Amino acid sequence: MKNYAVAIDGPSGAGKSTLARAVAQELQFVYVDTGAIYRTVGYRVWQTGTVLKEEAVAEILPGLEIALAYDGQGLQRMQVNGEDVTEKIRLPEVSMYASHVAAMPAVRSFLLEMQRDMARRSSVVMDGRDIGTVVLPDADVKVFLTASAEERAKRRFRELKQRGTPQDYGVLLVEIEERDYNDSHRSAAPMRPAKGAVLLDTTELTFEESRQRLLEIIRERIAL
Ligand code: DC
Repeated sequence: MKNYAVAIDGPSGAGKSTLARAVAQELQFVYVDTGAIYRTVGYRVWQTGTVLKEEAVAEILPGLEIALAYDGQGLQRMQVNGEDVTEKIRLPEVSMYASHVAAMPAVRSFLLEMQRDMARRSSVVMDGRDIGTVVLPDADVKVFLTASAEERAKRRFRELKQRGTPQDYGVLLVEIEERDYNDSHRSAAPMRPAKGAVLLDTTELTFEESRQRLLEIIRERIAL
């Protein structure tokens, strides 16, 4: 049986992971959050006190045993050398380490085969920054999911307020713009829409509208 691949790329805060997970569940494909894999490497670098330089990071890579597991709700859990790091990889310090290690070609090539291997084993909805351009250039469906920086900052503002950890809207907006700039201007696999990618802008769409539209895009291209 053929395995299908859906590649979803786009900037932070566009709702990629929530949407990708929702459509994967609907299609019964495996959902792969590749950002979590970069975060896991970032966590290990941070935890071991490794210097944030490519040569030092490259030395610890062969000793990393990264594994993905799924819980009953289809949520992806991350393990490294037997330690479950699912919650820890969301710490702000780890986000910073993740974004630094993600810019290192040694890290990107170390993770490339692992990501491709997952797509060979099952039908996947994989989200990240370079899935359609580098990891799975032959994916059956490629989507570049975005929303205006203002809208993404608004969503993050609401989310943090709800969680009881409010932050200033202006600060969030600047952070989002900075991250967009870093992700799209680095020399190793910069974020950009892949050739043939469908652009989905969710600025004016609710979550349900975005989910429906994404499913339509996929079903127009894959006969399921
Ligand atoms: O999507 P996220 O915020 O969890 O991603 C964490 C970091 O990894 C972020 O700095 C972008 C980077 N990343 C990447 O470079 N390539 C991917 N395919 C996924 C994430």
